[in-house]
Amino acid sequence: CGIVGYIGNNDSKEILLRGLEKLEYRGYDSAGIAVANSEGVHVFKEKGRIADLRKAVNGDVFASTGIGHTRWATHGEPSRENSHPHQSQSGRLTLVHNGVIENYDLLKREYLHDVPFKSETDTEVIVQLVELFMNEGKDVEEAFRKTLSLLHGSYALALIDHQDPDTIYVAKNKSPLLVGLGENFNVVASDAMAMLQVTREYVELMDKEMVIVTKEKVTIKNLDGETVERQSYTAELDASDIEKGTYPHYMLKEIDEQPLVMRKIIQNYQDGEGALEIDSDIVKAMKKADRIYIIAAGTSYHAGLVGKQFIERMAKVPVEVHISSEFGYNMPLLSEKPLFIFISQSGETADSRQVLVQVKEMGHPALTITNVPGSTLSREADYTLLLHAGPEIAVASTKAYTAQLAVLAILAEVTAKSRGFAVEFDLVKELGIVASAMESLTDSKEAFEDIAREFLTVTRNCFFIGRGIDFYVGLEGALKLKEISYIQAEGFAGGELKHGTIALIEQGTPVIALATQDFVNLSIRGNVKEVAARGANPCIISMKGLETDEDRFVLPEVHHLLTPLISVIPLQLISYYAALHRDCDVDKPRNLAKSVTVE
Ligand code: G6P
Repeated sequence: CGIVGYIGNNDSKEILLRGLEKLEYRGYDSAGIAVANSEGVHVFKEKGRIADLRKAVNGDVFASTGIGHTRWATHGEPSRENSHPHQSQSGRLTLVHNGVIENYDLLKREYLHDVPFKSETDTEVIVQLVELFMNEGKDVEEAFRKTLSLLHGSYALALIDHQDPDTIYVAKNKSPLLVGLGENFNVVASDAMAMLQVTREYVELMDKEMVIVTKEKVTIKNLDGETVERQSYTAELDASDIEKGTYPHYMLKEIDEQPLVMRKIIQNYQDGEGALEIDSDIVKAMKKADRIYIIAAGTSYHAGLVGKQFIERMAKVPVEVHISSEFGYNMPLLSEKPLFIFISQSGETADSRQVLVQVKEMGHPALTITNVPGSTLSREADYTLLLHAGPEIAVASTKAYTAQLAVLAILAEVTAKSRGFAVEFDLVKELGIVASAMESLTDSKEAFEDIAREFLTVTRNCFFIGRGIDFYVGLEGALKLKEISYIQAEGFAGGELKHGTIALIEQGTPVIALATQDFVNLSIRGNVKEVAARGANPCIISMKGLETDEDRFVLPEVHHLLTPLISVIPLQLISYYAALHRDCDVDKPRNLAKSVTVE
């Protein structure tokens, strides 16, 4: 989901639509725009894709002010009625909103019992409230501010008043929102990518700020109405980074970028002498910690599980890994000197951010590992380590995962050395070997396309098994497969499948087994035999040196601790081709959002 806005001299429709297209990667199920000119406000909205919205937009209307929205349904099903923009009862005010208003029902009952609602959304409450306060004699700005002071929850908002089409009112709390600056125009966007087409100059907004945007001026105010000054910054994104080029899908492009990202990471974390280096404040914080708590969601959580192995084995600090949405109510007993590490590709995941706010309140130090400089989790943590993976557009995360693993390995190595532990291998060299191994895998696409065709074309489910770190990679493989191909997939520790789930094995059920670890090679092969004896169709992916004749694919050899960086690539590619063979929308899978900014 996302928001855009434009105010200037040009027609806003195309700028808004292109902006929304750039936000498509975040996931959505309906979209809409509202444009304003001296004749009034024109609202166009549709369930489905931006392409559907495009068809619905009347090209004849010229309007140089507009707001736009992609919606990922939370309150109310995806439908035209529930899609944004929403209008006040009289039609004077038009609003788009990302986020969730927790007290909307209460506000509705307290203030708006007489107002007929057109949608089931929490958003409509906001726009109706602004109008209610205007009816009591307040101007738009005052009525908007009063409304904001009543809202509990998360929001990024853009509001227009058809009696004054020269202003967009904007506000933010917890949901991401930026204002972009131009010559005789200004824009609003959930992320800079959406508006790179017109500007690179952006101003960050803080929670509980509102902004009055005209084509010449941007005025930031706090909820007391006091003006806040803030410097702009130049977004360093390269517009070409966010183009697909000759690739049919972003996901395939991003899979192929992984060797390059490895090399970039090595470069960015090396000192003049070629040794690995990270910010000395982070090293101090790592040294001081008696226990590390990794907090993350989705793929980043899976990276955290592998990262725990890196940190514990190299730096010998105990690590716990937690799902961010659970942590708030299920907090473990904390150690005396905890350090929190937030892993988040986007740096915007609301579940993780909620934990960050909580642990900061408790006074604990926090480090964010993210791909997006300036993202909320990066700004609000004490320290940041960047992934240098370049924008990741496909909803299913690929290059960010391997980048997270590489950065976690570097963090583990530097911490180990600072704590006086010898690391018995040269990580720079080994990551270089990983980059080359990745290349040979991305060059072997046909082998993975064959596996996908043979094992996954007709099946309704698929299991991934592995032991040790292979198990964690299996979890990620299963997530990739279900995200984009909708095949029901689960990852299991090799020994665990037989404790229940083996009941689901039928004739031909695919079981993808990873065998990259010498010390469990025989046991995982034993597990394969158990499922094969019950009719499963096993596909063993092993590593050079451990292979047998029954293996379907043999990975090039890398250091045994770093195997997740390469064993995940066949799983990414197998998922990609499985989705293609099933005619799924690879880059924009149903029901998913790239950055989930609601809790
Ligand atoms: C969403 C995405 C996942 C992602 C997760 C965490 O659910 O669909 O692909 O892994 O959020 O995102 P983050 O940006 O915090 O890594």
